[in-house]
Amino acid sequence: MEDKVTIVALHDKPDLIEDCIKLLNDEWPRSKTARMRSIENSNRNLPISLLLLKNIPKIKDEVVGHAKISRLPLEPEKCLIESVIVNPTNRGKGFGRLLMTECEKLAAQFGFSSVILSTHDKKEFYQKLGYEFCQPVYQYGAPPSVESHLVEQSQNNKASEPISEITPYYESDFKTKATLPQPPPLPQLTSTLSTKKVYMKKYLK
Ligand SMILES: CC(C)(COP(=O)(O)OP(=O)(O)OC[C@H]1O[C@@H](n2cnc3c(N)ncnc32)[C@H](O)[C@@H]1OP(=O)(O)O)[C@@H](O)C(=O)NCCC(=O)NCCS
Repeated sequence: MEDKVTIVALHDKPDLIEDCIKLLNDEWPRSKTARMRSIENSNRNLPISLLLLKNIPKIKDEVVGHAKISRLPLEPEKCLIESVIVNPTNRGKGFGRLLMTECEKLAAQFGFSSVILSTHDKKEFYQKLGYEFCQPVYQYGAPPSVESHLVEQSQNNKASEPISEITPYYESDFKTKATLPQPPPLPQLTSTLSTKKVYMKKYLK
């Protein structure tokens, strides 16, 4: 990795919010307002959005990666890592590993004993970093089957962003049943097993 990179908290770099939104929305499209709502509460006491910046002399730093660490109110000894992303041109250079390592260090500093995440299609990446499959966590107290159902409805069959930014069960249930038209049936997935959402866990030392 030859590039000079740094990791900063989003709330310390508010001028990079727009770039962060673009990075996330290019991968997982959603409205700017919804995206803003999911990252603007970054603060020093969690949730924290971490940015991986590539430092370019005399030019504004490029936001090349993001990951968000949140508390799990029902499981206070664990934290959740989500929205892990490296921009397409910088993948395969070790930045994803670096970002996750920094997240884990920060989580350990907060006193968490383990880190949880969910993924559809990046199991091998997380396994390489020492994550193992585990039971679902309920961030909102919702049954995992309900959340999974919503996740599977992602556009274009693209793996959606992992769970925690999904609307809570009671709200989404109301919207899907009461106000939204039913979506057309999704085409058959060619690889159901590899895109099924799983939860993964890593104990922190
Ligand atoms: C997943 C992602 C963050 C990985 O970032 P990255 O910078 O490319 O990963 P790294 O270069 O640090 O890879 C670390 C290791 O994982 C491996 N790896 C990375 N992506 C992998 C994949 N999709 N499948 C299998 N192994 C993978 C690398 O080969 C490397 O292995 P090595 O240490 O033995 O050489 C990146 O591909 C990404 O942003 N994807 C789109 C968003 C996304 O799906 N995020 C995950 C949401 S759960």
